[in-house]
Amino acid sequence: MTTTFDLESVRGDFPILEKSFRGKSLAYLDNAATSQKPNAVIDAIANHYRNSNANVHRGVYALAEGTESAYVHARKVIADHLAVSTEEIIFVRGTTEALNLVAQSYARTHLNEGDIVVLTTMEHHANILPWQLVKTQTGIEIEISPILEDGSLDRDALCALLDQPKVKLLSLCHVSNSLGTVNPVVEIVAEAKERGVVTVVDGAQSISHGPIDLREIDCDFFAFSGHKVFAPMGIGVLYGKRDLLADMPPYQGGGDMIDEVTFEKTTFAPPPQRFEAGTPNVEGAIGLGAAIEYIGNLDLAAAAAHEQALLEQATDGLEALPGLTIHGSAPGKAAVVSFTIDGIHPHDIATFLDAEGIAIRTGHHCCQPLMEHLGISATARASFAFYNSKEEVARLVEALKKTIACFQ
Ligand code: ALA
Repeated sequence: MTTTFDLESVRGDFPILEKSFRGKSLAYLDNAATSQKPNAVIDAIANHYRNSNANVHRGVYALAEGTESAYVHARKVIADHLAVSTEEIIFVRGTTEALNLVAQSYARTHLNEGDIVVLTTMEHHANILPWQLVKTQTGIEIEISPILEDGSLDRDALCALLDQPKVKLLSLCHVSNSLGTVNPVVEIVAEAKERGVVTVVDGAQSISHGPIDLREIDCDFFAFSGHKVFAPMGIGVLYGKRDLLADMPPYQGGGDMIDEVTFEKTTFAPPPQRFEAGTPNVEGAIGLGAAIEYIGNLDLAAAAAHEQALLEQATDGLEALPGLTIHGSAPGKAAVVSFTIDGIHPHDIATFLDAEGIAIRTGHHCCQPLMEHLGISATARASFAFYNSKEEVARLVEALKKTIACFQ
């Protein structure tokens, strides 16, 4: 394969990848939990605090002007990356806050008792609980679109659910954090729109795996976390269509989101400021802008092809191991491999791998309903980013072989 993706050079951008743990060089295979940070992001944050820290939207002095323009620039970089306008980009703490914002500000005020919100079996708790809170507050119903054996969505069942006139909103993940399933959101959103259903896409696990064009997806809301796309924790984005945002009340009240305040009555600023009460996470936004600029300078298609090659190698290697079951084999899945091994608890697998310097995640991955559907309580999960190497995948397979041998 010809590629313009230079793995060694990319790895050199991420200083943590040179570290050793337990006397072994780190093989970081927990990228679905959080991604590592390139020098471009670390330097942008350090530069902000060294040279330009002030509050935003307030100061008239030169230092504050620099911070303001860096903050404005970050929003523009993100909007351009997603092919939307800056007024549609709301800075939030992460995907969780973004989905809670849609639930409280849109669903709670636009949906009525008996209206139906559709979710899917593969959702993260962050895309279940916000709707359950609205259910308690308003009496809406929640219905679940099932998945097939390979972990892909049962599209016929989803269409049948969406055909119900009471369905008002569909919220689903773009990529499953546990199964790696990539949902065909362009088609699904189109099907929902035909039926007048508002669409929310949880992009937490898709944002780092390739270009995202929200004009093409055409969903009403899209949420993601900075820390999953090589940026800091505590910053994320909610994209919302301009017309919908304009018609939504504030999510929180405070400074920076008002037009005029009296003790009797307050009028609010237009979006996105209406939804950004209080001093924002300025360094987070600057770091996120730097991360998006960093990936914007990569050949993202080549990076995605590299990740797919790692996935194929890992799948082939793991499938050959005795007693190992991979959960999730949907066609075109993302570079996430969840697995269990007969007779070995997932936490023991992770502990054995840790002794080899290999970091993976185990547990229910905040998807307890999915685990229940699979009839298991937890999996071990290796999740890859474009900076992972074939050598790291080979180490994973070898370490699992040793782990299995220890338990025989
Ligand atoms: N939701 C993150 C994960 O899948 C934390 O690990």
